[in-house]
Amino acid sequence: MFWPVHAKTFRVCALLRSGDKARGYAIPVRTTEKHAPRGMEMSTQRQMILIGFLQAQNCSNYVGSWRHPHSATDFLGPEYFMRIARTLEYGKFHLGFFDDRLAMPDILGSDHREAIANGVRVVKMDPTTILSIMSTATTRLGLGSTYSTTYYEPFHVARVFATLDLMSSGRSAWNVVTSLNDSEAMNFSQSEHPEHDLRYDKADEFMEVVLGHWDSWEDDALVIDKETGLFAHPDKVHRLDHKGRWFRSKGPLPVPRSQQGRPVVIQAGQSGRGQAFSARWGELVFCVYPNIEIGKKNYANFKELILKCGRNPAEVGVAPAIYAVTGETKSMAEDKMAVIDKLAKPVDGLALLSEALNFDFYSKDMDEQFNDDELKRISGLRAILDRVVNLSGKKNPTVRDFVEFSNRGTVREFPRFVGTAKDVADGLEEWFTGRACDGFVVAATHLPGGYEDFVRMVVPELQRRGLHQKDYKGPTLRDNLGLPRAELGDWKLKN
Ligand SMILES: Cc1cc2nc3c(=O)[nH]c(=O)nc-3n(C[C@H](O)[C@H](O)[C@H](O)COP(=O)(O)O)c2cc1C
Repeated sequence: MFWPVHAKTFRVCALLRSGDKARGYAIPVRTTEKHAPRGMEMSTQRQMILIGFLQAQNCSNYVGSWRHPHSATDFLGPEYFMRIARTLEYGKFHLGFFDDRLAMPDILGSDHREAIANGVRVVKMDPTTILSIMSTATTRLGLGSTYSTTYYEPFHVARVFATLDLMSSGRSAWNVVTSLNDSEAMNFSQSEHPEHDLRYDKADEFMEVVLGHWDSWEDDALVIDKETGLFAHPDKVHRLDHKGRWFRSKGPLPVPRSQQGRPVVIQAGQSGRGQAFSARWGELVFCVYPNIEIGKKNYANFKELILKCGRNPAEVGVAPAIYAVTGETKSMAEDKMAVIDKLAKPVDGLALLSEALNFDFYSKDMDEQFNDDELKRISGLRAILDRVVNLSGKKNPTVRDFVEFSNRGTVREFPRFVGTAKDVADGLEEWFTGRACDGFVVAATHLPGGYEDFVRMVVPELQRRGLHQKDYKGPTLRDNLGLPRAELGDWKLKN
């Protein structure tokens, strides 16, 4: 298994049914191909979830994309993001999702100047504000954003996303992250980023507070009866009175429930501890699977983990990040890819490695090995370290190994699908029907063109094959993800 799930994993799952037949689940929610309710067999086909990966700058996850000749530059105003939202909705994407970090990538050389000069994801506007704007340009597209459990307060997060959920008529989603580095800590009155597993322990309690607050209002609490003067039933709005190891929060949350009950929870933990957290809380899970074989294995293992947590694996969609470049002919697509490949600069990778691993990559020569102590100190995205060690076969990789095997800052960081619409659809279909995933986080190679090409060429081909929805299934994000409306307390594990 690529990212091992160690024994500690199971401690955080409140329910471990040792007798469970691990592969006894099936039934991905959107499918009726094998496991449909009686009388509905074969009426519809299992369909993929599509997510657009966004940054609050004029780049995608691929930093070099801002240098693309066709990349738009008006990203400091609403129209840029509204255009992207409309494009994603036109392609019936389930979700537009913002990545986020609470600091510039300034760990490389302990300075922000080089990152600024090279535009290495240095603009990070608050994504929830942008999502509000995107919600006014769309009616069905899901709207997801990253918010940190390490630097924000749970009450604040509960309120922001509950509000966004109401203002978007039930389309919001929160990507739960524990953040990555000291620069983020230093923006929030702390001197260093907390240790990896401890962050997740704190995040577990954070989730209980947020979800507890989202249960403050019963669905029929609001009355707004002007004649009797009753605004809401006092007995149907509840205080949380949470007192835990890290948080105290009284409540009630002053935001009623939304059309979908509460926002969808996204997670992308990849370490053992991170996957355990994901399996417990995530309703949509993002990941990086370097190839289909590893994807199939990790997907199956992760679904087992969900089951062992006492949850239904069919109600958790798993989506790996990918790049896709499409052309009218294969050689046109390859030409486009060649242009895109050349946009990366060495500083992009080094700045993003330093940011993600919380380690200054200028502090070592290119061919100098990391010693055991330095590797132990890497407290950020440890999945990158695991990947580099696995692929290089070196216990103590060099800086060059990190650059080469992580592909950070390049358009090779995720699997890429290049070719005609048919070629790209063939590749995605193979992953999807081969059970390496339930959908994809599509990272654009440049914006807005990367999504426009995908929507114009790949989406119709996927729809023709019945693999992607031709229309939205309902008004809320939960409807479109095939999830039931959230009920009060349904997030608590049953014994
Ligand atoms: C598609 C995807 C998007 C992610 N977005 C963010 C993000 O916006 N902010 C962040 O701090 N981490 C983000 N992460 C990192 C994860 O939250 C997680 O920390 C990482 O995958 C490492 O796993 P670990 O925390 O279990 O070590 C993302 C990961 C993936 C795969």
